[in-house]
Amino acid sequence: MWEKTQETVKFLKDKGFVNIDYGIILGTGLGNFTDNIDISIRVPYEEIPHFPVSTVSGHQGELIYGTVGKKKVLALRGRFHYYEGWSLQEATFPVRVMKYLGIDNLIVSNASGGVNANFKTGDVMLISDHINMMPEHPLRGANDERFGPRFVDMHEAYCKDMIVHMENVASKQNIKLQKGVYLALQGPTFETPAEYGMVRNLGADAVGMSTVPEVIVAKHMGMTIFGLSVITDLGIEGKVEEVSHEEVQKVAKTAEKKVGMLMTEFIKTY
Ligand code: HPA
Repeated sequence: MWEKTQETVKFLKDKGFVNIDYGIILGTGLGNFTDNIDISIRVPYEEIPHFPVSTVSGHQGELIYGTVGKKKVLALRGRFHYYEGWSLQEATFPVRVMKYLGIDNLIVSNASGGVNANFKTGDVMLISDHINMMPEHPLRGANDERFGPRFVDMHEAYCKDMIVHMENVASKQNIKLQKGVYLALQGPTFETPAEYGMVRNLGADAVGMSTVPEVIVAKHMGMTIFGLSVITDLGIEGKVEEVSHEEVQKVAKTAEKKVGMLMTEFIKTY
């Protein structure tokens, strides 16, 4: 893994991916955040050595480099999910690459089902913490100390200071934000009403199929993380409705402008 990471990093550095302030993982329906980036380089995943290639429609596979204001960003347009068949080591490989490109700050985004009765579809939730219920762990197996320690502290997986900063950005823009705990399940099925109930009982506010493995790997390497989730459907007791990937993408798209404004201002000013 170490050697592969270094090879991929060299390939990207040679292409000009240098001096990056923020790595961004764009989740379902949020791929067009790239409209807010003044893009100077784009590379399809299939051209990048050792990169996985995503298989889900609505998850284009492209690495994008450019600027937002004066900040340099690298955006991962299209992420890798456990349910696609990747191991969690494979799915999180791009995060390893980000770190060794010199990136210390990671922004993650996703679409999720809300299980908090105060949530509405289209809400944006700042991820304050997570619950890992994935059936595999990206750090299982021999630990390579060059990446990070065997036992990883997770007491502040999501940077509190960044959350406060985003709350300030949102209040200046008059955008209402939610804040809560994201729980990751393997998918690809959406939850049954009983499972949404379980998610709530476990102490979460939203449920999805991604993000947590990436955050764990980023934390392993000492990165600082900020995450937000677009609530695309609701799994609230007695009111669970049919949900589809199309609906999830549609709702995420409607929130895209709001998310774009928030993230752009956040990146410019943090
Ligand atoms: N459950 C799991 N993943 C999701 C959901 C959901 O309700 N909505 C968007 N991604």
